[in-house]
Amino acid sequence: MSSLTDILRKAISLVEPSPSEKENIRKIAEELRSKVEGLTVKRSEISSVELGGSYAKGTWLKGDVDIDIFVKFLPNIPKKCLEDIGIAIGKKALAGYRHYLRYSEHPYVEGIINGVKVNVVACYDVKQGLWKSAADRSPYHTLFIKSNLDNRLKTEVRILKKFLKVAGLYGAEIKTQGFSGYVSEVLVHKYGSFKSVLEAASSFNEGAVICVEEIDEDIAKNISTPVVILDPVDQRRNLGAAISPENIASFILDARNFLKNPKLDFLKESSVKDIYEELETSPLIENLLLAVFEHKSRTVDILWGQLKRSQRHLEKQILKAGFEVLRGSSASNELSSSGFIFLLDSQTLSQFQIKVGPKVHSAQDASKFLQKNESNAKLMWVTSDMRIHALSERKYWRASQVVRVLLGGEFNGSGVAPGLAQEIKDSFEIFTGTDVFKAVVGRSWLLEGINRVVFADRLSFGSSK
Ligand code: CTP
Ligand code: MG
Repeated sequence: MSSLTDILRKAISLVEPSPSEKENIRKIAEELRSKVEGLTVKRSEISSVELGGSYAKGTWLKGDVDIDIFVKFLPNIPKKCLEDIGIAIGKKALAGYRHYLRYSEHPYVEGIINGVKVNVVACYDVKQGLWKSAADRSPYHTLFIKSNLDNRLKTEVRILKKFLKVAGLYGAEIKTQGFSGYVSEVLVHKYGSFKSVLEAASSFNEGAVICVEEIDEDIAKNISTPVVILDPVDQRRNLGAAISPENIASFILDARNFLKNPKLDFLKESSVKDIYEELETSPLIENLLLAVFEHKSRTVDILWGQLKRSQRHLEKQILKAGFEVLRGSSASNELSSSGFIFLLDSQTLSQFQIKVGPKVHSAQDASKFLQKNESNAKLMWVTSDMRIHALSERKYWRASQVVRVLLGGEFNGSGVAPGLAQEIKDSFEIFTGTDVFKAVVGRSWLLEGINRVVFADRLSFGSSK
């Protein structure tokens, strides 16, 4: 077994971009910045243009960067103007490249320049604390991290981000409900190294409060999430609110496990090929049920909201039909195809079920039970406890039948999000057991979803299978 120091030294080459990658990204960022600046010089509504996010902070991961550029508006400009002008500038700056609108609190333009994702985001140029839109804190985050993290700490941030990514815990968006890049930075700043962050996480108490500045007791008192991480530039914002309790729990287990048994595997992402091969030998494949469907494109966070809501309700309905859903998750290419993934304890139930009725003494209850079950029952009898029993055939004894009815719209209370129901009904396909291999052809996003359900937690529990 390699020592922790050894692993951490090797980790650097996995997370730190090479000089040529840095130079390539720098060129794209500077070109974009001067283009956006050129488009704003004559605009009196705009005060400045600034590079932000992990690129500006120097905390981006090798092979995985998005360039965030902020167009800062004077605080007296109406929100609608900020949105319209912000979008117009973003679109012009990215003319000639693939670009599209995305939505956070307000819309912004995302584009791809030579394979690199770039975001042009409008925000207000406000004094600290006088936020007018959710994006206004971001330049302050950049400033805080740039002035508080040296190169050593930036590398530590990169290692932490990678660790979280491999564990499926990276990203604050609804899809993941995990740790954002900024949270990773705040944690490293607070604890001083990747290792110290893991040590702290290993012994997080329930309701642990993490803050960089002196804590304001009144503020902390009113927050109740499994872990409270106060934003150093805004003590009223709890960064921990975006992280799901499951993800915090996984992080605690992963941290303990890595410290106990440090392995480079914790910092290496599984490729699609790795996941496929793992699935080929997994006994769990027989218990997988997938439903895949096509849909129109929509705002990513809205799509994930609809998928998660539908997933939750479908699991409830499957449970009601007598099956056990051990775990579930949704998956999507975030454009046109998505799917629901269920890991069941069994794909089938016995064909017959016994209904235990009332005791024979109450004539009224007994006759009601008989009336209700007479036509369907294959057999009726009484037992020594003097209760009537009826053996009936299940309507659905395969989980796939249940899911087919739920998605096919034959059952009104399925709980599938109304915004997706029709598209699901028109296009869904169900795959079970080894047919899952057919479903994943050309759908690497689905394989990643399966990975989340079946394999991603293996590092939390110290075994590989
Ligand atoms: N941001 C935030 N809260 C979020 C998401 C984003 O405050 N839940 C702000 C942060 O200031 C962050 C910036 O928006 O620095 C850019 O967001 P993003 O690209 O998601 O994060 P990065 O820090 O750039 O990390 P990376 O791109 O490496 O994942
Ligand atoms: Mg970014």
